[in-house]
Formats: sequence, structure tokens, C-alpha cells
Amino acid sequence: MSERVLKIVMQVVRLILGCTFILSGFVKAVDPRGFSYKVEEYLQAANMDFPDWMNLPLVAAIVICCAEFVLGIYLLLGLRRKFTAVATLIVCVVFTIISVLLVIFHPVHDCGCFGEFISLTDAQTLIKNIVLLGLAILLVRNPQVAKPLVPEGWQWIVSLYTCVFIFVFCLRSVYYLPLIDFRQYKVGADLREMVFPTHDDIKPEEISDFMVLDTLSEDQTAQILFKKEPTILIIAPLLNEASTGVTEKLATINDWCRDNGYDIFCLTASPLKDIRKWCYYNDAEYPFLIADHTLLKTMVRSNPGVMLLRDGVIRNKWSANNLPEVEDASVDEKELEATAGNNGKILLKILLWYLLPMLLIIMLSNLIKKRKPKLPKLLKVSNDADDTNDSYDSNNSKNSITTKNTKTMRQKIVAGNWKMNMTLQEGVALAKELNEILSADKPNCGVVICTPFIHLASIAPMLDTSVLKLGAENCADKEKGAYTGEVSAAMVKSTGAEYVILGHSERRAYYGETPEILKEKVNLALANGLKVIFCIGEVLEEREAGKQNEVVAAQLKGSLYDLTAEQFANVVLAYEPVWAIGTGKTATADQAEEMHAFIRAEIAKQFGQEVAENTTIQYGGSCKPSNAKELFAKPDVDGGLIGGASLKAADFKGIIDAWKD
Ligand code: PGA
Repeated sequence: MSERVLKIVMQVVRLILGCTFILSGFVKAVDPRGFSYKVEEYLQAANMDFPDWMNLPLVAAIVICCAEFVLGIYLLLGLRRKFTAVATLIVCVVFTIISVLLVIFHPVHDCGCFGEFISLTDAQTLIKNIVLLGLAILLVRNPQVAKPLVPEGWQWIVSLYTCVFIFVFCLRSVYYLPLIDFRQYKVGADLREMVFPTHDDIKPEEISDFMVLDTLSEDQTAQILFKKEPTILIIAPLLNEASTGVTEKLATINDWCRDNGYDIFCLTASPLKDIRKWCYYNDAEYPFLIADHTLLKTMVRSNPGVMLLRDGVIRNKWSANNLPEVEDASVDEKELEATAGNNGKILLKILLWYLLPMLLIIMLSNLIKKRKPKLPKLLKVSNDADDTNDSYDSNNSKNSITTKNTKTMRQKIVAGNWKMNMTLQEGVALAKELNEILSADKPNCGVVICTPFIHLASIAPMLDTSVLKLGAENCADKEKGAYTGEVSAAMVKSTGAEYVILGHSERRAYYGETPEILKEKVNLALANGLKVIFCIGEVLEEREAGKQNEVVAAQLKGSLYDLTAEQFANVVLAYEPVWAIGTGKTATADQAEEMHAFIRAEIAKQFGQEVAENTTIQYGGSCKPSNAKELFAKPDVDGGLIGGASLKAADFKGIIDAWKD
């Protein structure tokens, strides 16, 4: 799949997953209490007991809908892409397992994935979850393809605002009633028509199981629905669980009903004993009717809740926390019904409270990001601030994203790779000689010598680090412990060395260093404060097959793409075509430039343009004083990693001087 197509596909994947999670989180947040009944069903099906005071189903319902909504926003905006991809996969795996269990055991009726907004059969739920799982797997494999819509420094604001918004919205929905009623018993529903349909074209799902009995088990449904007077129904599914703080208010409503010609009943599923207890302790004078527990929980998401019926039509509903204000005797029917139409407006207001600040944050953060001057990366080697390369005649290649200026800002580094050469004495002598030469004639690029481990501790104290820095040629992929013969990143750092070469083709080829091993090494080196010179490059057969770009891109991806941009700032890349190493066969300056430009473009895709422009990319492979100048003149070549020619001070100095006019 080409890069372009992959990008488009991943955007679509992100969009589908994001919208699905946002929708499923939001519709549950509209009615968390309703979803908590579903959670309760699941917990009961799993035989899980929990103390009542914990209200575990409701807490779990709130946590789940908040998590889904936040995950959806993360997906849509491309925030914390790797974390989000993994979290999405975990959620999808769990959902798929649950839906398989649903299909096999049918423990609950309707999965509840989208609250009461959309109801799916078990088979539909399974298919939906398998599709989402497939998309989540795609996302985990390509988490970084899409760019985040909000720059990194601003993402915490978006996260915090989203979490607070959805949590507060959930609490509001629990405290009052759902702003959108997805069930049959919404304001405006004609109960009379739903229970005793007068026309044939009523759909089965429109028929209601509303039925009330008096305490002698006589059916009172018709009497209630065909009453001439408006009727207030106090709905208390279980009286022993109802909040008792509102009993006085209910008594006031009862009085008001009596004075204003309203009928009033309390519908409950409680046994007679509980009804008597309630009347005795709360001086309740209203009559009681019996109805099904689930029906009552569906009618009003509050215990107790209040419903106003007129001509068999539901005119308004109130939660226990928001009962109708009838203390004032002049309150009339119109006023009682007036508040019912406000829900749409309230919901719109709430959504705008989320969307407008979010849009503002997205626009502002991107605007500020664009305006921010592109600062050069912190210099990796202290002596090269005085760039004298302004007059460089860089012949830009077509592919290059680099301009003369950005090259000037970037760190130039010439590094020696001594490999397995030099005894301790020879190495110390060479380091001393180089130190003297470079102190006398200051380089205008960073210079590093990477030596075998045995040299590090002896050479480190001798160097004037303002002109010459020290590095190792390798480090272990383990932190510490029983790994005979290995040298850890911490040990390298403790010698005074500042750099380490990792991923050299000789270590990949002769010592079986895989991208995974190298990933460990890179992480440990960076964690221990070392800067990494990371080598990449293709072998001859790969170049002959035209696969060099693919190989190099895979090497980058395999070991470096888990890094953050901050970590990556401490990585120098060295493109070393394996066929040019130690063979005397240098890549032409144009070949080098073409590949360096490609590498930079890849880095830009992964870490952003600014990081890419600040990344030092060295060329390595038979680089000598005679060809260094031509190579370094290329806009994307920022120095060299020198093997053979770094073993003689004069040759190495010749290459370093290629940066001078
Ligand atoms: P070379 O080696 O300069 O001897 O070709 C470069 C390297 O392996 O880093």
C-alpha cells in the first residue's frame, strides 16, 4: 500500500473508531442510570455480588461512558497516538470477548453498547465488535500515520477539558433526568394510544406494557389513562431505596393536587409492607398503585420521580432533585408543562460549552505553533556555534526539504569510529594528538571519537570537550546484571563518554543485532544520558534491487519510532550504505543526498518537520579528505561517520576541515 493510500485509510479508521466511541460514550452519558441497570444485569449474569452502598453499577457506568468518550476524542484528534491505539485495541478485545459470550450464553437482553439509543441483537453486536477490533488492529500497526490536530504542548488542556466535561455531564444526567429520552415514556408520548391502540398501523415496539393494579390486584390502567383530570404520578420503583429527603415536597404536591383538581397516585413495585411503612413514616396521604419494577425504572430515571399525565399523554417529568415548584398556590397547568420543552435548548447549550472552547483550543494551538519561530536544536557539541557555512554552495536536490538556512542551523558532526583497532597505548596516543591539533586549530563542526570500551576511561579525562568529544562503539541491550562480557549504557556514561554508536551494519551482520535489540539499546543509552549515533543503510543487493528506501525506512521504524520527539532530539543518524563501508567505494554525493533527503522526509512524517530539519544526518562509508567536501556540500549531509580514515590524525583532521572554506 502506498504511503498516500495508507494515510487516507488510517484517517478513515481513526474517524470511524473515534466517532463510534464518542457516540457510544455520549449516549450512555445522557442516561448513565439507564446504563447502570445494564451493568447490573452483566454483574448479576457474572454472579458478582457487591454491597449496595457502593452503587457499583452506577460508578462503573459513569467510568465506562467517560472512558469511551475520552478515547473517542483522543482518536478523532490524534492525541497520544500510541497509547490511544493500544487502549482502543484493549477495549475492542474486551468488547469482542463479551459479545462472543453474549452470542453463546445470552446472559443479558440487548448488549447496551449504545445505551438505549440503538438496540442491537447479539449477532449484530458481535459483527460490530469484530469490525471495530479489525480497525483497532490496523491502528495499532500504524499508530503514527495521522498527524495530531492539537500540538503536543496543548494536548493536556484538551484531555483535562474533555474529562471534566463528560464527567460533569454524567453527573448532571444522574442528578436531573436524561436530556434526551431514548425510551418509550418520553414527554409527549401518548400512553393511551400505546396501551389501547385505536389504529392498526401501530408498530410492535410502540405498544406499551404499561399496567397498574390497585392493592387488591384490580387492573386500574384504563381508569388512570382515561381520567378527565390531569394526573400526577409519583413513581418510586422501590420505596425502601427511594430518597426520603423529598417526602415533604411530595406532601406539598399532594396538597396542591387536591386544591387544584388534579389526581395523584404513587406507582411502586414495593410490597404492601413497604408501602405501609412509607405511609407511616412519611405521612403520605396519596393513594398507591402497583406496577412492574422495570417498567417504573424505565418511566422515570429517578426514585422517586414525578410524571404529569393529561389526556393519557405524558406532559412533563421531574427527578427527585428537581421536583415541580408548587409551593406557590398560583402555579397553573401551563407553568407545570412549560419546562418540558427546554431539554433541547439545554442540550445544545451544553454541547456548545464543549465544542466552542475545543475549537478555540485547536485553532489557537495550531496558530501559535505555526507562528513560533523555528529555533535551532540545542547544540549537541558546544564549539560549533560559530558556523561559517553561510557561504556554502549547497546544490539542493529536488527531494530535499532542507534549505540552506535550516542546514546552517543544524548540528554538523564528524565522528570517528575506531572499530576493533588500536591498543590502549595507541589509542591514547591518537586521542592526545587529535586533542592537541583540534585545540590549536578549532574545528567548526562537532567532533567525536568513538573508541573501544577499553579506551574510554583513559581517554575521557584527556580531552578538551569543547573541541573533541568521546563516544563508545556499542553498549548492552540489558540494564545490568549477569551478562558476562557486556558493557552497559550506564557504564559507558560513567567513563565520561557522551555518545554511543548503535546499529552499525557490522554489529547487525556479525552479532545478530535485530531492530528489537537495537530498540532496547537505544532506549537504555538515552535513558542513561548518552547521545546515540544510529546507523542505517542497505546492502549491495538491496540497492541493486532498488529497495534502499524501503530498507532504511524499516530500520528507522524498527528501532526509533517508539521514541518521543524529545528523546529523538538526542539521536544523530548515520546513513552508511553497507556496500561503501571499508570498500573504498563511496556513494556519490548525489546518491548520498538523495538518501539523506529521503531519511529526513521520513523523520518529518514521524516526528514533524521541525524535528526533521534539526536532525543531524551523517554520511558514512569510505569517506576521506578527498571526497568529504563534495559530500558535505550536499544540503542534507550534515557530517560523516568515519571508519578507516579516523585512525590517522591527519586524515581525520582533513575530513573535519572539509567544513571550512
Ligand atoms: P569506513 O567505515 O569509513 O572505513 O568505510 C565507516 C563506518 O563503518 O562507520
